[in-house]
Amino acid sequence: MAADADLEDLPGVGPATAEKLTDNGFDSYQGLAVASPGELSNTADVGESTAADIINAARDAADVGGFETGATVLERREQIGKLSWQVDEVDDLLDGGVETQSITEVYGEFGSGKSQVTHQLAVNVQLPQEHGGLHGSAIFVDSEDTFRPERIDDMVRGLPEEALEAMLEERDIEGDVGDDETLDALVDSFLEYIHVAKAFNSSHQMLLADKAQELASENEDAEYPVRLLCVDSLTAHFRAEYVGRGELADRQQKLNKHLHALEKVGNLYNTAVVVTNQVASNPDSFFGDPTQPIGGNILGHKSTFRMYLRKSKGDKRIVRLVDAPNLADGEAVMRIEGGGLKPE
Ligand code: GTP
Ligand code: MG
Repeated sequence: MAADADLEDLPGVGPATAEKLTDNGFDSYQGLAVASPGELSNTADVGESTAADIINAARDAADVGGFETGATVLERREQIGKLSWQVDEVDDLLDGGVETQSITEVYGEFGSGKSQVTHQLAVNVQLPQEHGGLHGSAIFVDSEDTFRPERIDDMVRGLPEEALEAMLEERDIEGDVGDDETLDALVDSFLEYIHVAKAFNSSHQMLLADKAQELASENEDAEYPVRLLCVDSLTAHFRAEYVGRGELADRQQKLNKHLHALEKVGNLYNTAVVVTNQVASNPDSFFGDPTQPIGGNILGHKSTFRMYLRKSKGDKRIVRLVDAPNLADGEAVMRIEGGGLKPE
């Protein structure tokens, strides 16, 4: 359903309510269909029963019911895309790459390469399918001032030659892959399809998840629909703001809500959601297993794929797949080079 779905056709929705809904990111029937009455009643200042009516009507209109047939589930699953890391060994671990309609958590200590992975995926997602991409654009929610256009530049130039050639043709850029000015133009075009927003604190970060949904909705029929949503880092603000033991439950609840919003984008728009999470590097840590990701259990349940990055010698990194549904746990080796992630 388009972003301009007429909300005023829904029962109990007048111009004022429609405006409140739109302002809060509920600008499509699909978005409304998966909202909870409590959530909607708060955002739009309507009673819970009106909210429930709105949701039910949106469900009918968007054809999003409580139950769906196995055929529908199959149809949606058939749309799942796989986004390549451009590292065969890692792609093999993942049976093709990072999946859309799922949350993938990339965790590891500082410098293990989490941000490099998110940058590389923001490049790869734009490639055509035959080159491991999803012909899509990326949203990058940046909570640690980590996004570097210069790294995107390096990584575009580091793509395999056939992928570069395909992209030059696709984007009508004249010239040769060996020509610097041609590649400058190509790099610019890649940067155009990465939407970056800095998150200043955890509640701003949560708001950006809603903005991401709006953007994905607006671009649903665009040439490059949003196929990747990165949050780097998912946990840093939450960790910094909710410090005491007494605040742990509150933090987890907020994180859970945030993940729910991200998951929604993934499911509604066939987008891969990739979040990063730092783990303590001190092996003598008092706080339990140093390789345990910060979000603890709740994050574990929500992220369908969990990938643990470990530093090895020099630019080598070990990538471990942990607890993935239907996939065997295993490890792969890659390098972080000037031109991006590369096979060993
Ligand atoms: P935190 O965000 O601090 O938790 O770390 P991270 O896991 O995000 O690490 P990040 O992805 O920033 O990886 C940093 C590592 O990537 C560096 O130690 C380098 O090994 C490598 N790296 C980063 N930028 C470059 C670059 O421009 N060239 C090369 N060759 N390697 C780079
Ligand atoms: Mg980082």
